[in-house]
Amino acid sequence: MNTLDGKVALVTGAGRGIGRAVAELLAAESAAVVVNDLGTALSGEGADVSVAQQVVDAIRAAGGRAVANTESVADYAAAGRMVEQALDEFGRLDIVVNVAGILRDRMIFNMTEEEWDAVIAVHLNGTFNTSRHACALFRERKTGGRIINFSSVSAWGSPGQPNYGAAKYGILGFTAVLANSMSRYGVTANAILPYAATRMIDSTPRGQEFARQHGKPPSEMAAGTEGDPANVAPMVAYLASDAAAGINGRFFGVRGYTIQLYSSWEIAAILGADRRWTPQELAELFPTYIDPLLEDVPTVEVPGQERPLRGTAALQHDPAAWEEFAPGIQQWVREGYYAAKAAARS
Ligand SMILES: NC(=O)c1ccc[n+]([C@@H]2O[C@H](COP(=O)([O-])OP(=O)(O)OC[C@H]3O[C@@H](n4cnc5c(N)ncnc54)[C@H](O)[C@@H]3O)[C@@H](O)[C@H]2O)c1
Repeated sequence: MNTLDGKVALVTGAGRGIGRAVAELLAAESAAVVVNDLGTALSGEGADVSVAQQVVDAIRAAGGRAVANTESVADYAAAGRMVEQALDEFGRLDIVVNVAGILRDRMIFNMTEEEWDAVIAVHLNGTFNTSRHACALFRERKTGGRIINFSSVSAWGSPGQPNYGAAKYGILGFTAVLANSMSRYGVTANAILPYAATRMIDSTPRGQEFARQHGKPPSEMAAGTEGDPANVAPMVAYLASDAAAGINGRFFGVRGYTIQLYSSWEIAAILGADRRWTPQELAELFPTYIDPLLEDVPTVEVPGQERPLRGTAALQHDPAAWEEFAPGIQQWVREGYYAAKAAARS
């Protein structure tokens, strides 16, 4: 029996890149899939109905069950019709994977209102739109459910992506709200911060540099390598399965063959008082009690890499912090989390 036997999934942005790989793997794991894709350019302009249909044809040719939906996730009513389509075609809905996305990169001082709105509409509103309709159904039918949202490390502050970074941070907050509000109905919500060599990566300065060096964009050379979007799909299929019922409100980096658990939001330090602070007191105390903590981020120089690694990336680089627990499989756990790991293993 495959892991998603009897389940029905809606995957948005499933016509290309990561979404396509997710739709194909869910179908291979026996889920019936509504393959949503508007078939737009990376900027969100234009539409092409053949993009979703090609994925449906591929899934059916491989013996799976799928139907195409070519509407926009940015349209609230259209998102309702995606959920309806799952019910009409397959009789139920269990899994929603929000992958659809566009880019309109610009520095904050050059960004137009339209560029801001378009990106927020697809990523943040789109994730709300499908989730809103699906959650009403999950609550009414008491069948439980899974929501898997796509965020990005751009949320941590990519300089040329004010719209995209804000939407992707918003998706993390929204995922946490879903996790807390829907768990009583047996629904889990988790977010993935992926990396895969798709057309989205082709558009970045690094992608364009790669194309200059290799004569082809990264997406055209990704198949079978660590950058293959298919490498992101197994984590989605796992989170969508009954086996992951206990995983809720978590954020996972999924980059090639590496799966990262983010520690979500942690308070790093506290200044407490039994009365209101004055700004002058804060100005006096910060240099001693807070500023040194801001600097407490190791930096590692890696040969061949232009920029030194900071923060978690630097810690992960330390070979001593890695433990091999099966051939070819290693684990890294941040210092301070080792006690929890040791307890879990014993
Ligand atoms: N590729 C990466 O490394 C990377 C990194 C971080 C985050 N992400 C996120 O992962 C997701 C997938 O990215 P990708 O690289 O596969 O991109 P992609 O451009 O290859 O695929 C995105 C798909 O979404 C569709 N789409 C766009 N607007 C839509 C709308 N309004 N309604 C329905 N479909 C729509 C597009 O037609 C396209 O087929 C996105 O949310 C992206 O922001 C990707």
